[in-house]
Amino acid sequence: MKKILITGGAGFIGSHVVRRFVKKYPDYHIVNLDNLTYAGNLANLKDIENEPNYEFVKADITDGELMNTLFKKFQFDGVIHLAAESHVDRSISNPMEFIHTNIIGTVNLLNAARLIWENFEGKRFYQISTDEVYGSLGATGFFYEHTAYDPRSPYSASKASADHLVGAYYHTFGLPSVISNCSNNYGSFQFPEKLIPLVINNIKYSKQIPVYGKGENIRDWLFVEDHAAAIDLIFHKGITGETYNIGGHNEWKNIDLIKLLCKIMDRKLERTAGTSEKLISFVKDRAGHDLRYAIDSHKIQNALGWKPSLKFEEGLEKTVEWYLTHEAWMNDVTTGDYQKYYDKQYGKR
Ligand code: NAD
Ligand code: DAU
Repeated sequence: MKKILITGGAGFIGSHVVRRFVKKYPDYHIVNLDNLTYAGNLANLKDIENEPNYEFVKADITDGELMNTLFKKFQFDGVIHLAAESHVDRSISNPMEFIHTNIIGTVNLLNAARLIWENFEGKRFYQISTDEVYGSLGATGFFYEHTAYDPRSPYSASKASADHLVGAYYHTFGLPSVISNCSNNYGSFQFPEKLIPLVINNIKYSKQIPVYGKGENIRDWLFVEDHAAAIDLIFHKGITGETYNIGGHNEWKNIDLIKLLCKIMDRKLERTAGTSEKLISFVKDRAGHDLRYAIDSHKIQNALGWKPSLKFEEGLEKTVEWYLTHEAWMNDVTTGDYQKYYDKQYGKR
């Protein structure tokens, strides 16, 4: 039996990765380590919580001693590290939390692995990272695995720093690691501070849709289950010391994506065509807002045979349907501190 540590498994992407591994690998013991911040939610894993090969541990990766103790106790064979502060806007209002969790937290895990793994045979430390470490593109071009890091927000700088530390532990100590850098994910269980679930929820309640700047920024969207499939492949077949870019070859200007969502929502909610678009409200731009991200994912496609499974329109339709049919989940995550966050970020609208 393999013991696999997945950090941040109660979050958006982590919950999809945990579910995939628990279901697909009954002979693995999957330990989901998460300290359940505002973004972590055990309801995301309700369907697999009683599986015999699944275990949840509530713990904070910024506690180095605790990480050493847990590594000693469980004797993990592999680590898939997703735990992070993940929202760019929050990193602008509170950078220190990102420094602690994303940098110190990652180093604590690297130190624990280095300390406890007596030899590195058969071991793997997999760092889940983002395309935002590469900075911002102009109208053309792509991010490649060899593109130099040029992070521009406290979030992306903290992720870049963590990636460099993973690379440093590989080169200096031989700690067997692999890194992937993925583009924007969408799908079920995403916290509605992120664009797509926020827009769906606002339209549902006829609240204004906040579009930063002119809505001309471009993101490359990927269905979250396709990201989980890529993570599975890289964890098992990726080459130690290498980096893999993951993306959907699916660029959308924010305003075009929002208009598409408006159309889908009008149809699903049986509202007159054009109703939702009237909610669009152009607001103050995000500070340092990166213009465009676009991933070249030929390496993972050619080397590991991965490709996105869903067309975007199909995935978006599925996603809208999921949020509309999971009202209790949405109500649950938008009570408490969410409203406070929302009012601070957008003002009362
Ligand atoms: P998320 O915010 O939904 O989930 C993060 C999880 O980490 C939560 O469950 C949270 O409770 C946990 N966590 C935070 N701080 C912790 C700590 N100190 N100790 C233990 N657990 C902690 O994030 P997400 O969108 O699922 O992203 C997961 C990872 O994937 C992150 O590393 C992110 O940088 C990366 N990533 C995200 C995207 C995206 O589009 N969302 C794209 C590429 C890469
Ligand atoms: O590219 C990968 C990254 O994608 C991940 O590393 C991050 O963890 C993840 O949060 C995401 O970052 P973005 O900043 O691109 O995602 P977000 O959903 O916050 O914003 C998407 C775009 O929409 C961005 O250009 C900002 C814009 N936006 C966002 C919000 C929340 C708006 O116009 N209005 C909004 O209210």
